[in-house]
Amino acid sequence: NGQILRVSVIGTGYLGLTHAVCMADLGHQVLAIDVDAEKIAKAARGETPFFEPGLEPLLRKNLDAGRLRFTDSFAEIGEFGDVHFICVGTPQSKDGTGHADLTYVFGAAEALAPHLNRATLVVGKSTVPVGTSRQLIDRMQAAAPAGELVDYAFNPEFLREGYAVQDSLTPDRIVFGVTGESAETLLRRVFDTPLSSGIPGITMDLETAELVKVAANSFLATKISFINVMAEMCEASGADVIKLADAIGIDERIGRKFLSPGLGFGGGCLPKDIRAFRATAGERGVGSLVDLLTTVDTINLGRRHRVIDLARQALGGDLSGKRIAVLGAAFKPNSDDIRDSPSLDISGRLSDEGAIVSVHDPVAMANAKRVRPELRYADSVHEAADGADLVLHLTEWADYRAIDPAALRATVANPVLIDGRCTLDAAAWRAAGWTVFVPGRPAA
Ligand code: UDX
Repeated sequence: NGQILRVSVIGTGYLGLTHAVCMADLGHQVLAIDVDAEKIAKAARGETPFFEPGLEPLLRKNLDAGRLRFTDSFAEIGEFGDVHFICVGTPQSKDGTGHADLTYVFGAAEALAPHLNRATLVVGKSTVPVGTSRQLIDRMQAAAPAGELVDYAFNPEFLREGYAVQDSLTPDRIVFGVTGESAETLLRRVFDTPLSSGIPGITMDLETAELVKVAANSFLATKISFINVMAEMCEASGADVIKLADAIGIDERIGRKFLSPGLGFGGGCLPKDIRAFRATAGERGVGSLVDLLTTVDTINLGRRHRVIDLARQALGGDLSGKRIAVLGAAFKPNSDDIRDSPSLDISGRLSDEGAIVSVHDPVAMANAKRVRPELRYADSVHEAADGADLVLHLTEWADYRAIDPAALRATVANPVLIDGRCTLDAAAWRAAGWTVFVPGRPAA
């Protein structure tokens, strides 16, 4: 019915800020909060603290329209919201178990609960282990003045970095994990615009909704590791994994998406989500799931070692003193996110083995410098490649497909390329005089 609701968003990181902006863009009145005063101040000025195509203009549009505001007061949030979305981070805990660290989720619930004086709906969006929503209901009802009038739902988020706005406004599906009809009705009002455009809304219990999110990410991770072991098999057989992926991907039951071999998955979600899921599966005695996810993770990390081995071979067995140009630092293109970036992991290890590593990235350099200050950074591809003994292509930015291999050849000391992402035109590079290695593809 297109009704405007008062929506509060707790946490303005990647997920929260995108969600707040998109809720406002659907027409709702939105108030967002974060414990980080600087983040709030920046967002209120219309600046996003990370690179995400399309988000900043949409933030400004909704600030100007008066639909989106920021605060540091939980009292104000509690007073304001008809519905409260919890969008704080659930990073991998530092205790080595792989479990998700739920400190921020419970912290947000504890900060909000004392200000819930009337019937309201709190909605979890952060990825959490199955069973967390039940715990949150109990805690919030115990701490809120409105007691059992506080309801709780789980509404997982499937957005990809680089496509966050599109994925939030027009997702493939919207999942409503609820305990009863009233929460479902309210959530369907919140998402009325996308639902009435035909996007399916699927209602289920809380536990299933929690599992949907981690099952989806585990399936995607498994698909990537599957094609990466096929790359190993192709390499051992002189076969071509890209042709193989194209051919099996045409079968709709398989599908070509998420079947690109290379360096495997990184980023702030897939690696930590499959590890947290493995930890939960272990606790619940589902050993076969623990085995599956352990294998997926091991295959994934093995890709990084494979590129390092190739680099060592290409450089005659010893990396010390060798100049290596690394193209790409972000965990994937169209993002400045360097969390669990295969590229930076590889760069760091090469540097540990004595190589002189010069890294280029179109947008992620500042973030990369913060976590890997020991590496060199170059403002252009040519600067990175100046005098290089080896060029590594490790993040598949479109810019790198536009490189002129003949011009770059004049810059390097040795025209040797390892295309870790299998996306450059190897034939064109070879024609320009380069020796090219592509994991999973034949040598020429
Ligand atoms: C992922 C999920 O796609 C998203 O639904 C979830 O909400 C969060 O986690 P994101 O981390 O932004 O999103 O990145 P995505 O585009 O999914 O890529 C994940 C990783 O897999 C990247 O490191 C990418 O390089 C890698 N990848 C992806 C492959 O190696 N091969 C592929 O075919 C696809």
